[in-house]
Amino acid sequence: MKLTQITETPVWKSIFRHKFEDTPRNRSLAVTSNVFLHLHPIKVDRDAIKFRFTFCLGGLSLFMFIVETITGVLLMLYYRPVPEYAYLDIKLLEHTVLFGMFLRNMHRWAAHAMVILVMLHMLRVFLTGSYKPPREFNWVVGVMLLVITLLLSFTGYLLPWDQIAFWAITVGSKMAAATPFLGVDGPFHEFFHITDMNDMKYLLLGDSDVGGNALLRFYVLHCVILPLASVLLIFVHFWRIRKDGGISRPL
Ligand code: HEM
Repeated sequence: MKLTQITETPVWKSIFRHKFEDTPRNRSLAVTSNVFLHLHPIKVDRDAIKFRFTFCLGGLSLFMFIVETITGVLLMLYYRPVPEYAYLDIKLLEHTVLFGMFLRNMHRWAAHAMVILVMLHMLRVFLTGSYKPPREFNWVVGVMLLVITLLLSFTGYLLPWDQIAFWAITVGSKMAAATPFLGVDGPFHEFFHITDMNDMKYLLLGDSDVGGNALLRFYVLHCVILPLASVLLIFVHFWRIRKDGGISRPL
């Protein structure tokens, strides 16, 4: 079978679409304008891919995110986000499921590693001046990714529903109550008639104290909302690197 028998079909043409005549130059254009055929940039500066310039810290952050996604989905098979079962499910996972303890520890250690790696990556970007024009917007996207990484860590902390989780989130949510204007214990809260039933802490916990509502809210944030937001921003982050002319060069 000839290759043209495939490339001339309407299905192929609807995916790999280009409206130019079929010359060698235009064939390469069809490749470079297609996201699947062209995940890698056309040219890469030799200095920019030196290991000692990036230490691969961004790539390692991404790797940890992937490890978290895979182990997290597996953990979801054994965990129910209700006060009656949450703690018990973690204990059952550790002691009755094959490789359960390994799975849980992998998720926990990769989470710690991700927080550290993202911070080191940010430090590298700062020290090499890579936040300067034209990369300012990508720095801002990066800051959002840092905040989301920390929020993933914070929301995941409550899920084992043990003593340390319960009291850590009690302290954390009291900090939310101290938000200026929007927290019941914060300065100027009278400005918007804020009470303990409509402040930042209530928004975070779904209640005025840590309980079943908070557990469910943190679970949905941890397993759905924050990971989806991360994936979206990671795509924007990588797309921006390409649009900003690739990774910045060493001076
Ligand atoms: C989930 C978190 C993050 C992931 C997965 C990620 C991933 C990456 C990757 C793979 C690169 C390519 C170069 C490299 O590996 O160092 C990169 C570059 C970059 N990142 Fe991140 N990043 C994250 C967070 C951040 C943060 C927190 C900042 C700063 C606030 C940031 C700012 C930048 C900038 C400005 C560049 C371009 C650097 C250059 O051109 O040299 N990123 N990121």
